[in-house]
Amino acid sequence: MSVGPGCVITGASSGIGREVARLFLRRGFKVFGLSRWKGRLPIEHENFVPITCDLKRVDEAEGVARELLAREKGLSILVNNAGLGAFGPHDAVSKDAISAMVNVNLTSPMILTQKFLGRLRARRGHLVFISSVTAMGPSPMGATYGATKAAIRHFAQSIFEENRRSGLKVHTILPDLTATPFFDNLSFGPCLNDPETYLLPADIAEAVEFAVFTARDPVVVQEIVVRPRRFRIEKKG
Ligand SMILES: NC(=O)c1ccc[n+]([C@@H]2O[C@H](COP(=O)([O-])OP(=O)(O)OC[C@H]3O[C@@H](n4cnc5c(N)ncnc54)[C@H](OP(=O)(O)O)[C@@H]3O)[C@@H](O)[C@H]2O)c1
Repeated sequence: MSVGPGCVITGASSGIGREVARLFLRRGFKVFGLSRWKGRLPIEHENFVPITCDLKRVDEAEGVARELLAREKGLSILVNNAGLGAFGPHDAVSKDAISAMVNVNLTSPMILTQKFLGRLRARRGHLVFISSVTAMGPSPMGATYGATKAAIRHFAQSIFEENRRSGLKVHTILPDLTATPFFDNLSFGPCLNDPETYLLPADIAEAVEFAVFTARDPVVVQEIVVRPRRFRIEKKG
């Protein structure tokens, strides 16, 4: 059984989650990375533990949480990062895609949060949510994605208020366009030959680092919006 500082990160196999996992490894944490890990290699580090979990299946997320809580006594941080997006006019988005976005971006994070809350409170830990700038306004061509991101932001605000006396800190990061494999199967993405128009996963990890480690103890950095200087997206094909 491990009692050292432990951190659970969803979506640690790629992009932002992978970079946030590296941050916690650098900070001396044992990191449990939840992803499907299909065709993706785990981070090579003695303190990194890949855990296979499909967050579309909420029961699977719950089972992994239960098992980790029983085994790992030192868990003090949960980063709800995993997410996916399907975009286009809402009439054209499949029922499966809607259900996947709601389960991965919203329901599983809510259930994981519920399971880990007691432990995080007891250790005066941190809950981190990776939302999106799409949470801040309407998202035409991304109605369901934007709704899940707005909902998780609202959920985080409520969990913070509910647990304010406990010492638990809740942080939400709202990234803008970030160059990750998120866009691999989408019809648009960052304009990679124009570096002023997109963020890097390390920029988001830096925001997490500031919220969790840099701010003075009673200070809660509740939300950080991270944007590139200029706006530009590239249509593919
Ligand atoms: N990139 C952007 O521009 C941007 C902007 C704002 C917010 N965000 C948010 O940032 C978060 C990370 O995205 P990213 O840009 O880093 O994208 P990414 O590189 O595609 O990473 C997504 C991560 O989510 C995991 N994931 C997806 N479906 C899953 C499932 N069913 N079960 C378990 N894990 C699953 C993936 O792991 P597996 O595939 O191995 O399962 C992967 O590790 C997401 O919540 C996204 O909405 C991204």
